[in-house]
Amino acid sequence: MTIDSEKDLASLKRIGRIVALTVEEMASKLEPGITTAELDAVGRAVLEKHGARSAPRLMYQFPGDTCISINHEAAHGIPGPRRVEAGDLVNIDVSAELDGFFADTGSTFMVPPASRASEKLCQATRSALRRGMAAARAGAMLNEIGLAVETEAARRGFRVARSLTGHGVGRSLHEEPSSILNFYNRMDRRRLKEGQVITIEPFLTLGTGRIAEAPDGWTLYTVDGQPLAQYEHTLVITRGHPIVVTTTEG
Ligand code: CO
Ligand code: CO
Repeated sequence: MTIDSEKDLASLKRIGRIVALTVEEMASKLEPGITTAELDAVGRAVLEKHGARSAPRLMYQFPGDTCISINHEAAHGIPGPRRVEAGDLVNIDVSAELDGFFADTGSTFMVPPASRASEKLCQATRSALRRGMAAARAGAMLNEIGLAVETEAARRGFRVARSLTGHGVGRSLHEEPSSILNFYNRMDRRRLKEGQVITIEPFLTLGTGRIAEAPDGWTLYTVDGQPLAQYEHTLVITRGHPIVVTTTEG
């Protein structure tokens, strides 16, 4: 969607704050032994308390309220009996709807003790998101986001999972502009517009970044078994730095 009123911005920020809170609350419960179903229940309780509805469940009948993906799982991991273990990389991705507005956020967390390799991967992915955000301004080419993300990933010795992308969001979970790539595509001639609502969500890995879908029909994972990290924000494009709506600050 394109935001053209303070009222719509306030509505988008409301659901942005709720999904960010949900991720924070779930992350605070992350410890060895907790199951992903238990984590999902924590998330569901936060969404319910705020009157929000899980977007993947609402839009795609996803069998959970949040997506929890561990280690070489990239996205859309289904909550279930799996127990979190020490040293795991756990990605929590929460998207939800309130009053017809949608926001989407994700973060990867290290369950202590974190390896040096995991720390580097998470730092690099956060940095790639920051670079992507800095490139996202009204009038710029959309492909400058991918260029910034890919350049930062490479500078730090990582690759992006090319099939996983950001997207337009706001009135639905996935809308135009679709496929906001995490690499440079010179054929993409789209430009960013003021008020446009998008996600940026780099997925970085040490491996090839090739992704496949598990037989459960949901879970995406790296074919080479390498772990992967993702950080995602929902943003409103401005002439300057984008407005981050998926935050509990401010
Ligand atoms: Co997401
Ligand atoms: Co997303």
